[in-house]
Amino acid sequence: MDNLNFQKQEINKISEIEKIQNIVSTGSNELNIFLGGGYEKGVVTTIFGPSGSGKTNLCLLAAANIAKTNQKVLIIDTEGGIAAQRIKQLTGENYKEVLENILFLQPLTFEDQILAFEKIKTIIKTENIIAVIVDSIAMLYRLELGKPQAIFETNSALARQIGTLVEVARKQNIPVIMTNQVYSDFNNRNEVKMVGGDLLKYSSKCLIELKKQTNQKEESAHKLILHKHRFLSPNSSFIFTIKKKGIEEEK
Ligand SMILES: Nc1ncnc2c1ncn2[C@@H]1O[C@H](COP(=O)(O)OP(=O)(O)O)[C@@H](O)[C@H]1O
Ligand SMILES: [Mg+2]
Repeated sequence: MDNLNFQKQEINKISEIEKIQNIVSTGSNELNIFLGGGYEKGVVTTIFGPSGSGKTNLCLLAAANIAKTNQKVLIIDTEGGIAAQRIKQLTGENYKEVLENILFLQPLTFEDQILAFEKIKTIIKTENIIAVIVDSIAMLYRLELGKPQAIFETNSALARQIGTLVEVARKQNIPVIMTNQVYSDFNNRNEVKMVGGDLLKYSSKCLIELKKQTNQKEESAHKLILHKHRFLSPNSSFIFTIKKKGIEEEK
C-alpha cells in the first residue's frame, strides 16, 4: 500500500473514532450498534410516533443509563408520562441514586413550558447536565392551539424553544432527545405527520420514527425507522420488544 493511501485510511479511522466518541449510549447495546454508537452529541434527535409506540421508554432507557454512570440528565416531561416505578424497573437496586441524577421539569401548561425553557441554559450550566430530554415537545403546544388565542405567538414560542434546544446541543456538545406526537396525513392514510410541522423536522439532525406492530408470536413489538442521520443511510429499521429491564432486538 502506498503512503498516501495508508494516511487516508488512518484519517478515516480517527474520524470514525471521533464520531463514535461523540455519542451517548441509548441504554441498549443492540440499538447502539444500529445507531452507529448511540445518540449523537451536539445535535437534536427527534423520536416521533403514536401513543404507545415506545417514545417514553426510549427516553427513560437513555436517561437511566446516563444517570447510572453518575452523570446528570434533565428531563422536561410535559405529558406526566414518566413513572419513577419504570425508572426503578430499568435500573434495579440503586435506583434512588439514579433518580438523584435525573432532574425533572414538569410543565402543566404551554405557559409553564415557556418558563421551563427559559431556565434550561442556566440549569445545564449550574447542574452540569450532560443530556437533555423533552418528552414531548408539542403536547401542550397542541392544546394551546385549540384555544382562541394568538396562534402566531404560540408558534413563535415553540420556534424559540426548538432554537434553544439546537443551541444548547451545539454549544454544550450534549445530546438533546425530544419526542413528538403524530397525526394521520389526510391525503395519505399510511403516512403520519408530526405535530409542529417541518420546523421540528429540519431542526433535528437525527429523525427516528416508532411504529407499533406485532411480532411472529403475536406479541406487541415496535418498529424503529431511521429517517435522517448525519452519517448513516436512512430508511433502515430496527424491531424491538419492550421488557422490564429495557428493550430487546427482534432478529
Ligand atoms: N415493564 C414493561 N414490560 C413490558 N412492556 C412495557 C413495560 N413498561 C412499559 N411497557 C410497554 O411500553 C409501551 C408504552 O410505551 P411508551 O414508551 O409509554 O410509549 P409512548 O411514549 O410512545 O406513548 C406499552 O405497550 C407498554 O406495554
Ligand atoms: Mg410517552
